Amino acid sequence: MLINIVTLFPEMFSAITDCGVTSRAVSEGLINLRFFNPREFAKDKHRTVDDKPYGGGPGMLMKIEPLVAAIKSAKDGLIENANGQSVKVAYLSPQGKVLDQAGVEEIASRDRLVLLCGRYQGIDQRVIDQEVDEEWSVGDFVISGGELAAMILVDAVTRLQPGAIGDKDSVSQDSFSNGLLHWPEYTKPKVFNNRSVPSVLLSGDHKAIQEWRLEQSLVVTSNKRPDLMNEEDQSKKHSRSK
Ligand SMILES: C[S@@+](CC[C@H](N)C(=O)[O-])C[C@H]1O[C@@H](n2cnc3c(N)ncnc32)[C@H](O)[C@@H]1O
Repeated sequence: MLINIVTLFPEMFSAITDCGVTSRAVSEGLINLRFFNPREFAKDKHRTVDDKPYGGGPGMLMKIEPLVAAIKSAKDGLIENANGQSVKVAYLSPQGKVLDQAGVEEIASRDRLVLLCGRYQGIDQRVIDQEVDEEWSVGDFVISGGELAAMILVDAVTRLQPGAIGDKDSVSQDSFSNGLLHWPEYTKPKVFNNRSVPSVLLSGDHKAIQEWRLEQSLVVTSNKRPDLMNEEDQSKKHSRSK
């Protein structure tokens, strides 16, 4: 998957390009990130990338011209080889649709995308209207820039790329992938601080283990995230799929 990222801080992305699963996916070419820094598109001597908001008020906005030039460049690079597929520009924004696993799965099914990271007090509405196709939020709170949000999106999407995670079952069993939260897990030792591992996990009975895990997923989900389940429906759905 090709992802072109418009950002004033490309260096922040080393957190995902240099570490863990995402780093491996980048080096194996499963995910290809390129960066377009509006500062490099600024024409003035000081390479200005911010400007005052009309109407006054605190803070600055991203300056329009270098921002739009960076977006166009990020988009052009992807359109060239898109074979007729559209390339969407996604703005990371607290006003966007809150990202969930269904959203991540939909984005992961695309083969190219432009991500736009805001800074300061955000970006001019006309840029949103003219250049942005969708807005994604990482939650109902405000962070200082779109980079962390973009990294969350890229990490979540990378996990779903075929081959990114060694054992593909581990992704399909993750929380949310079947609508439920993951069951509790245990590792060695068998007894820790006087608490034992549930005996079924030591039984070697795979059918019993599978049933226990589903039951625990239902319990954990209804305790921690009752909003995710209509309990009756989830129980029925999963008992049918056994
Ligand atoms: C300080 S915020 C601007 C917030 C804006 N003034 C508002 O109140 O809606 C700067 C940038 O951080 C990013 N950002 C902030 N919170 C976010 C969130 N919850 N999800 C995604 N991006 C976010 C956006 O790209 C935004 O342009």
